[in-house]
Amino acid sequence: MLNNKNIILGITGSIAAYKAADIASKLTQAGAKVDVVMTEPATKFITPLTLRGITGRAVVADMFDPASQHSIEHIALVEAADVMVIAPATASIIAKMAVGIADDMVSLTVLATRAPVMVAPAMDVDMFANPVTRENLARLKARGFIIVDPGYGRMASGKVGWGRLADVDKIMAAIEGVVGGSADLAGKRLVVTAGGTREYIDPVRYIGNPSSGKMGYALAEAARDRGAKVTLITASSLPEPEGVTVVPVETAAQMKQAVTKAVAKADALLMAAAVADYQSRTVARSKIKKDSPGLTLELVRTPDILGEVRGKFLRVGFAAESDNIITNAKKKLAKKKLDLIVANDITDKKSGFGVDTNKVTLLAKKGKAESLPLMSKREVADKILDRVVGMLGKKK
Ligand code: C5P
Repeated sequence: MLNNKNIILGITGSIAAYKAADIASKLTQAGAKVDVVMTEPATKFITPLTLRGITGRAVVADMFDPASQHSIEHIALVEAADVMVIAPATASIIAKMAVGIADDMVSLTVLATRAPVMVAPAMDVDMFANPVTRENLARLKARGFIIVDPGYGRMASGKVGWGRLADVDKIMAAIEGVVGGSADLAGKRLVVTAGGTREYIDPVRYIGNPSSGKMGYALAEAARDRGAKVTLITASSLPEPEGVTVVPVETAAQMKQAVTKAVAKADALLMAAAVADYQSRTVARSKIKKDSPGLTLELVRTPDILGEVRGKFLRVGFAAESDNIITNAKKKLAKKKLDLIVANDITDKKSGFGVDTNKVTLLAKKGKAESLPLMSKREVADKILDRVVGMLGKKK
C-alpha cells in the first residue's frame, strides 16, 4: 500500500522526463505524498508547474531558491521520506551520486536523505554501455541503491538497444516492493490462476466465457507486493505483471498440466480462473465449413482442476454464482475439500466478469461467512490474502 507514504521523486534531464509525470500521477493516485525535486536540465523537458499540478505539492528545482535549501519543510521532507526515486536518471546524475557530488537539487537531496534510493536509468545506448556508467552503477548497487534496469528498444536517437527508461509499471512495482506491503507472505510460494479458458472446436473457434482475468491478476500482484513468490497461470490476455512468473495457457487441460507442475513446491493454490466445464469431444484439424444448416457438437467434461489437484498446500476456490450464492458456494467448498471459497454474485453489474470491482463473500471450512462490501478487485485480493496468511500461520 502506498497510501500516506512519503516519496521523493527526483527528475533529471532526459527525454524520458515526461514519463515522470505518469509516475507522479500514479503515486499520487495511490495516496502517496509525492515531493518532486528536479535538476535544472530536467525543467527544460517538463515544467515544475506540471508536476506541481499533478502532485498538489511544491516542486523544487532551484538550489538557490531560499524556499528549497533552508526551509524547514524541505529538510522535513528529506527526513520523512520512505523512499527517494530518481526517474529518469541520466548518466550524469549516476556519476555524481557515485562520487557524492551535490551541486543540483537531485544530487543534493540524495546525499542528504537516509531513505532508500531507487535509480531508474535512461540514456542513449552507448552512454549506458560505456564502462564508466557500468562502473558507477555497480558502485551504487554495492552501496545499497536499488537499480531498476532500463529496457530494450528504440531510443529517441533512432538507435535500438538497452537504455530506455524501464516501463512505468515496472518502476511502480519496484516502489511497492520497497515501501508497499507488510511482507507477511515473504518466502511463501503462491500459485494463482486467472482468465477464462478456451476450449477449441476447430483451429479458429472455441467455447469461452467473459472472464477478464482481473481478479486473478489483482491476487497475483497483491501477493507479490506482500513478498510472495508468485506463479500466475493465465488464460487472460492482460499485460504480464512485473515480478511474477507467468505461464500462459489456453485450455482447461493445459491449465491442469501447468497447475500440477507449479503446485509441487507451493504453499497455496488460488484458482480465480473461470475454467470451462465442457470441451468438444473432438477438435477438428481444419476449419469446419459452414455448408450444413446446423452443427451438433458433442461436449464432454473438462478436468476439474481444483477438485483433482490435491496436496499439502492451501486450496482456495472461487464460485461465480447467479442464485443461491451461499448455499451453492458451501456445497463446492465441501465437494472440492477447499480451505476457503470466494463467492460472488455475477448478476450484480459492479461485481464479477470484466469490471474492476467485486462484491464477495468469504466462506472457510470453519467459521462464519464474511460478506464484504463492494470494493476494488485489489482490495478484495488483499482481504483474501489476509485469510491465506492466517491459515498458513496455523498450518505451521
Ligand atoms: O465447480 P465450479 O466451476 O463452480 O467451481 C469453481 C472453482 O473451481 C473455481 O475456483 C474454478 O477455478 C475451479 N474449477 C476448476 N476446474 C474446472 C472448473 C472449475 O478448477 N474444470
